Amino acid sequence: MISSQNPSQTAESLVAALEKYGQGDYIGESISQLEHCLQAAHQAKLSGACDELVIAALFHDIGQIIPLESTKEARMNLRESDENVGRVGHEAIGAAYLRNLGFSETVCRLVNSHVAAKRYLTAVNRKYYDSLSSASQKSLAFQGGPFQGAELRHFEQDPLRDEMVSLRLWDDGAKLVDVESTTPRARSYMEIITAHLAQTAA
Ligand SMILES: [Fe+2]
Repeated sequence: MISSQNPSQTAESLVAALEKYGQGDYIGESISQLEHCLQAAHQAKLSGACDELVIAALFHDIGQIIPLESTKEARMNLRESDENVGRVGHEAIGAAYLRNLGFSETVCRLVNSHVAAKRYLTAVNRKYYDSLSSASQKSLAFQGGPFQGAELRHFEQDPLRDEMVSLRLWDDGAKLVDVESTTPRARSYMEIITAHLAQTAA
């Protein structure tokens, strides 16, 4: 995939990549990566979220599924965890990948935040930690554990904090089985992705 493509070509390539590489199991859960991403985007849409947030929800785990050779970031930072908790640093890989394709800084920051938001929520809400799936609780340790001190204050003051938290909660809720028939497919987001890329390129 190359960033010199026009917006509709980039949207098409990216949706095709999500459909192709998202067929594998979502780490430790009973659904595919693709269905997980589609459920997250659908929740964002149902909540009346803006297009950037819906797009971020759709692609929040793109760094988890794209082939490793796809990004320089991936080659530099990636290590596959031997505890089956997914790619450590996948949020930064995904953000770098999307930035390279022309997505807005807001979309990239939101994608990059979904692990930080979990670290934030586990720091401020014990019930949130208890609500996480065991796979998600397990991966938290590899992601640095709950925020403390300066990291916690920094996240708290981020202007996108509320959007980051919303994305995280949709991410956590996007693990339902057998809801394919009522979950819109990736192609239904083609129009907003294309419009977004056209706008950022203008
Ligand atoms: Fe996710």
